[in-house]
Amino acid sequence: MRRKAILITGAAGEVGQALVERLAEQNNNHVISMDIRPLPPELDAKVQHIVGDILDQSLFDRLVSEYDITHIYHLAALLSTRAEYSPMLAHNVNVGGTMRLLQLAAEQSEWKSEPVIFIFPSSVAAFGMGSLENKAENPRPQEWEWNKPITMYGCNKLYGETLGIYYSNNYKQLSENEPAMLDFRCVRFPGLISAFTVPSGGTSDYGPEMLHAAAQGKPYASFVREDAAISFMAMPDAVTSLIQLAAAPRENLSHQIYNITAFSLSAEEFAAHVKKHFPDADITYSPDISRQRIIDSWPIDMNDDAARRDWGWKPAYDAEHAFSDYLVPNIRKRYE
Ligand code: SER
Repeated sequence: MRRKAILITGAAGEVGQALVERLAEQNNNHVISMDIRPLPPELDAKVQHIVGDILDQSLFDRLVSEYDITHIYHLAALLSTRAEYSPMLAHNVNVGGTMRLLQLAAEQSEWKSEPVIFIFPSSVAAFGMGSLENKAENPRPQEWEWNKPITMYGCNKLYGETLGIYYSNNYKQLSENEPAMLDFRCVRFPGLISAFTVPSGGTSDYGPEMLHAAAQGKPYASFVREDAAISFMAMPDAVTSLIQLAAAPRENLSHQIYNITAFSLSAEEFAAHVKKHFPDADITYSPDISRQRIIDSWPIDMNDDAARRDWGWKPAYDAEHAFSDYLVPNIRKRYE
C-alpha cells in the first residue's frame, strides 16, 4: 500500500516555510515539500524535500507511484510585481503549474475514488477596483464582486480559481465515467507579514519591508503613498486559515473561494505601528507609479463573512497584537 502524504509546492516561499513548520509539528503527517530552491536546513530536516520544477511532469510520476497524496497545498507562484516583469514565466508557473497539480489531484481522486483536498491560496490581487472612487465606495467587496484584476498575477490567480472549480465540479462531465471528486478549496489572502522571512516580488511588500528595515536600523522609502490602503494578515493566521479550511467538513462549505482578512491599514498607519515599537524608524515615501497603481486597484479590505460563518475563520491577531505579540518580539530576536 502506498504511504499517505501531504504535498506542499512552493515550500521554500514565505507561506511555504511557515506551513511546513506547522504541519511537521503534527507528527502523524508525512510531508513532501517541493520547490525550485532548497529549504533552510532546520526545516529540511523535518520533511521530505524535493528540489525541482513543478512544470517537470516526471517528478510527479515518481511521487504518485510511491505515495497516496491526500492533500495538496499548491503555493508555488510568482508574485504580483515580479509577474509584471516576466508575464510569460508568470503564466507558465502560476497557470501551467496550477493546471498540472489540479490534473494530478483529479487523476489521484478518480483512481482511489476518494477526493484529494486541494488548497489553493489566491489573493486580493484577483480584485480590480477600477478607480480610487470605487475603492473608497466599496471597501469590503464580496468574493464575486470586482473580479477585474489589472495584474498578470491577479489574472493568473482568478483563472486558477476558475480551473479549480472546473476540475472539482465539471471535469469529465462529458464522459461516461463518474466525475472526478477533487475537493478544491481556496482562500484569497491579503498582504501577509512574517517575522521570520521577507517577501520578494510582491506589491504588498512595502509593509513587511518597512518593519524589517526599522528593526535593522535602516532607513526605508515606501514605494506607495501614505494613504495607500489594503488589508494585511500575520503569517501564523495565514497558515491557520489553510489548515482550518483543509479540515472543514465539506458539507459546511457554501463557497469554494473565500475572502479572508485580518486588519486594514494605510501605509501611514502601518508606519505608525512600526514607529510605536521602533521610534527611531526612518520612513519616507517615494511612490513608484506602477506599484502604486497596483495597490490602488486592490480593495481596502475584503468581506470575509462567509469564511467566518462556514469554517470558523477568525484571525488571532488584529493589527495591535500582530505587532506587539508576534512581529516585533520575533523580529527583534532575529536581528539581535
Ligand atoms: N502579497 C501578494 C503580492 O503582493 C498579493 O497576494 O503580490
